[in-house]
Amino acid sequence: MNIRQATVEDLMSMQNCNLLNLPENYQMKYYLYHALSWPQLSYVAEDHKGRIVGYVLAKMEEEPTDVPHGHITSLSVLRTYRRLGLAEKLMTQSQKMMVEAFGAHYVSLHVRKTNRAALSLYKDTLKFNVEGIEKKYYADGEDAYAMRKNLIDTK
Ligand code: ACO
Repeated sequence: MNIRQATVEDLMSMQNCNLLNLPENYQMKYYLYHALSWPQLSYVAEDHKGRIVGYVLAKMEEEPTDVPHGHITSLSVLRTYRRLGLAEKLMTQSQKMMVEAFGAHYVSLHVRKTNRAALSLYKDTLKFNVEGIEKKYYADGEDAYAMRKNLIDTK
């Protein structure tokens, strides 16, 4: 299994993977926006035949009122390729480049309150903290945990 930076050619496969794994889906122009604006931050996992089996789609938030920070828009791994450490690797690589390429101070994300697998990955493995709860964040009314991880000391 190989982890590499995502290219524009990968975006259809990433979108397909997203559609299979998550109810939060995006138009192709949103994938393109990520890939063209912050090409260093999105990664794919591919099998030995070059098929995309997982991805992380990430961006920078550069609001004038806050320090620069990264944001994980979407992460998923195809069911048969889970628990192999792919999500951890995808996340670690993206976080590293948020710091190296863009000077990110921290990385943020949202996750469903009931998503036990992702919560365990973020909290236990990657050491994110819960910053707060965003009520009815998702279209179906479920609440989100807003999570954050400091990146300053990981340079
Ligand atoms: N149950 C409990 N802990 C888990 C689980 C699980 N099902 N999956 C991962 N973890 C934790 C474990 O601590 C694991 O370490 P271990 O295997 O040594 O015990 C650690 O996370 C690392 O797991 P990975 O193998 O790197 O994770 P994986 O590649 O399986 O991907 C993911 C995890 C992305 C959550 C996957 O289950 C998935 O695609 N789920 C559906 C989509 C999804 O929920 N995406 C996240 C939405 S939030 C967002 O996109 C910002």
